Amino acid sequence: MSSALFTPVEIGNLTARNRVWVSPMCQYSVEERDGVPTSWHLVHLGSFARGGAGLVMAEATAVVPEGRISAWDTGLWNDAQVAAWRPIAEFIRAQGALAAIQLAHAGRKASTWRAQDGDGSIPLDQGGWETVGPTAEPFWNYDPPRALTAAELAELPSAFADAARRAVSAGFDVVEIHAAHGYLIHQFLSPLSNTRDDEWGGSLENRARLFLDVLRAVRAAVDIPVMVRVSATDWVEPEGLTLDESVTLARWAREAGADFYDVSTGGVAPGIKIPTAPSYQVSFATAIREGAEIPVGAVGQITGAQQAERIVADGQADVVFVARQFMRDPHLPLRWAHELGAEIEWPVQYHRAARWPDM
Ligand SMILES: Cc1cc2nc3c(=O)[nH]c(=O)nc-3n(C[C@H](O)[C@H](O)[C@H](O)COP(=O)(O)O)c2cc1C
Repeated sequence: MSSALFTPVEIGNLTARNRVWVSPMCQYSVEERDGVPTSWHLVHLGSFARGGAGLVMAEATAVVPEGRISAWDTGLWNDAQVAAWRPIAEFIRAQGALAAIQLAHAGRKASTWRAQDGDGSIPLDQGGWETVGPTAEPFWNYDPPRALTAAELAELPSAFADAARRAVSAGFDVVEIHAAHGYLIHQFLSPLSNTRDDEWGGSLENRARLFLDVLRAVRAAVDIPVMVRVSATDWVEPEGLTLDESVTLARWAREAGADFYDVSTGGVAPGIKIPTAPSYQVSFATAIREGAEIPVGAVGQITGAQQAERIVADGQADVVFVARQFMRDPHLPLRWAHELGAEIEWPVQYHRAARWPDM
């Protein structure tokens, strides 16, 4: 039986072996708090590559130390981090998956406790740091950030570009710019968090300035595929970032050199009731795919083989990103291919498990 999900797909000048891709998942597992990934990251990400994923995306990785969500985040601002990422990217690639990494700056949502240790901002005297944002307005009950100056904003694109170069040096095939979930770039895109009255705020062109400057800088720095993750809506329409605006942004991003769009939602406004349900964000991906003519990934409560197959076969999205279901079963693509009767290559070491029931 043929399967759309297990058909190869192009991203820029590369080809992924199938359309089941691993969505980025922060692990908050850098116990040394130096941004250097560890054996946890190798096993966590490596297991998904072994399990048959087409592309494996490493978690939100900070381009500068103050851009970390928590002190336990990974980073790509120095050579020690490049050296530690290298065997991880190499292992992912050796299993036949594309190795990708999400480049991030948390802005006013930085310097927080990881879930197992607490809630909200880490006080300065307990290892926290001063955060930055479009304005001094805090997110929810977090510590207020300092508003970025125009001079500081002009520096940020090169921080992302430098991290992208380091990603190439570490052996990654693809970089993703994190412009979603209420982190720094999204803080500038959304009128809910960006109330600046200079050239960085106001009109969509102004709110998009940081996003497009970062994208152009990354595009110019590397010749590997560049992907973008966005929140297509703030779920506060019409006051927040709207789907219509997001379609326009995606068109601009495509013109600025984005190869692929990874479509999520929300994160900038606290206390919003988001109508989560299976596939609840897929229609946003479809609208951007059709409106901006760019290949897209859909994400959010995609947990079943038939569900994922329909999304891709019906042209609602080019690929599916999966997060939590991959943690439940790192071998999800091997299982889904079996369920759909599709061809998939098992790791040679696991060939005796490739046919079941046992024979
Ligand atoms: C533990 C965990 C960590 C996450 N970390 C990130 C991240 O680093 N970057 C990101 O863009 N999204 C992150 N997300 C969101 C997921 O990538 C995904 O968009 C979301 O979980 C919905 O997909 P799912 O229903 O398949 O889990 C995280 C989600 C989880 C559960």
